[in-house]
Amino acid sequence: MWKPPERIKYAPRPGKWPSEAHAATSLLFSPVDIGQIQLSARTWVPAMVPWRSTEEGFVTDEVLAWYERFARGQPGCVVVEATGIQEVPSGPLMRIGHDRFIPGLKELADTVHRASAGQTKIFIQLIDFLSIRRRPEASKYFQRFFKINEGHRVALCAENWKEDKIREHLSSVDDAVLEEILTERELDDLRMGARERVTDVQFDHIRDLPNVLPGLFSDAAERAQKAGIDGVELHYAHAYTMASFLSAKNDREDSYGGPRENRVRLPLEVFAAVRGRVGDDYPVGCRFLSDECIEGGNDLEDAAYFGVELAKAGMDFLSLSRGGKFDDAKQPNVGDAAYPYTGRSGYECMPAYISDEFGPFGRNIQPTAFIRHAVRNAGYDTPIVIAGGIHGFEVAESILQNGEADIIGSARQSLADPDWFLKTKLGKGDEVRLCTYSNYCEGLDQKHKIVTCKLWDRVEMDTPNVRKSSDGKRRLIAPDWIP
Ligand SMILES: Cc1cc2nc3c(=O)[nH]c(=O)nc-3n(C[C@H](O)[C@H](O)[C@H](O)COP(=O)(O)O)c2cc1C
Repeated sequence: MWKPPERIKYAPRPGKWPSEAHAATSLLFSPVDIGQIQLSARTWVPAMVPWRSTEEGFVTDEVLAWYERFARGQPGCVVVEATGIQEVPSGPLMRIGHDRFIPGLKELADTVHRASAGQTKIFIQLIDFLSIRRRPEASKYFQRFFKINEGHRVALCAENWKEDKIREHLSSVDDAVLEEILTERELDDLRMGARERVTDVQFDHIRDLPNVLPGLFSDAAERAQKAGIDGVELHYAHAYTMASFLSAKNDREDSYGGPRENRVRLPLEVFAAVRGRVGDDYPVGCRFLSDECIEGGNDLEDAAYFGVELAKAGMDFLSLSRGGKFDDAKQPNVGDAAYPYTGRSGYECMPAYISDEFGPFGRNIQPTAFIRHAVRNAGYDTPIVIAGGIHGFEVAESILQNGEADIIGSARQSLADPDWFLKTKLGKGDEVRLCTYSNYCEGLDQKHKIVTCKLWDRVEMDTPNVRKSSDGKRRLIAPDWIP
């Protein structure tokens, strides 16, 4: 896992907690409109994949319990984890690519509304992703996947060799030789595991993405609407298909790559299709990156441009994340898949307690403020959601008071203590269980293991009805809190 060079350790810094009376007059606990609906507060739990669905992508009791627990803390909105819009098996990741998923999602929406006493809206994050393979053994890569061409034969001076001999030879040579013979892409496939890119237009299914995705996203959004979910968040962030279209690294030549106006074209077309399907009254927004945080990637200026274009198109909210790209991911072990939250860009996405002189908290504040400013200057009042290290009332309220964002997203702190917004509102901030930003949860996510928080396990483990992991060591749900 990438670590910042300075390696300074930071403890949580929640600042002063408000009294109940103070909280009642705060911006944080005031309502905000998202399109035609209203959130009861400017508090938001961003999408977090907990790997709790069935292998077929259906809602399970564990999924219901996970969201029910967040809802009991009454945030203004909880965003359901990245949910796949295609009929592609992807392990215990939720799916919405067919009507058979609607009943489970309806139960989920009902659960959140009931558990929050109607205080929490439930949105769902809709994701498309391209295929990625695990890192292969070198011998397996050369035997099974590697395609030999004339270029390789010339580089090897092996014009007359049989294919088997070339494959065997390449399996046995060292890295320096491979770097002479293989293309950059082939080296990447070997070292990281083969991964499709939106620029692989030589493949029909990649070339056709602009034709196919608007329909797939709008089908999915319509299912969410039918299930009683209050709104959708189009996933235009991190390492996935739509973010890759926005990326400065997208050099497709079919008018969906190259200059910014081309790169934002598909995200706008997807949005237009979704809007056309669900109507003007249904909240539709997106999550995208304030900065890709990779060499040659989008920066703040790009993000501000996209923010304005997305607002102009009529998005009901814009949620800003950072980084989380494959481009700088750590090399996985053989048999594992690359994880986009391991490099520097991954650190920027989920900054941990070991950090640089800037610290892990508030890295997304200035970038978000810059983008919000650009959107406001262009004449749009689209609400802007921020996330990244926020775990205290003072900083949350000052972000809102300073006009740096309109809604406060808090992922890992809400995971550590799903009641933290409610405790703050009731003047009981000193009872908040503070996230230590150790990224224990992210480690579980990386292994596609059911996500929990290590802080939960220290509390009331012996209470009889506590739901535990199969080894009995981890609580599956945060401890209860009685106000
Ligand atoms: C376990 C875990 C799963 C996550 N899954 C998603 C996801 O599905 N979609 C997404 O946009 N971000 C995802 N994130 C990123 C968070 O939404 C958030 O942007 C990030 O953790 C930074 O906010 P925080 O400092 O408040 O945790 C995930 C984060 C964690 C810890």
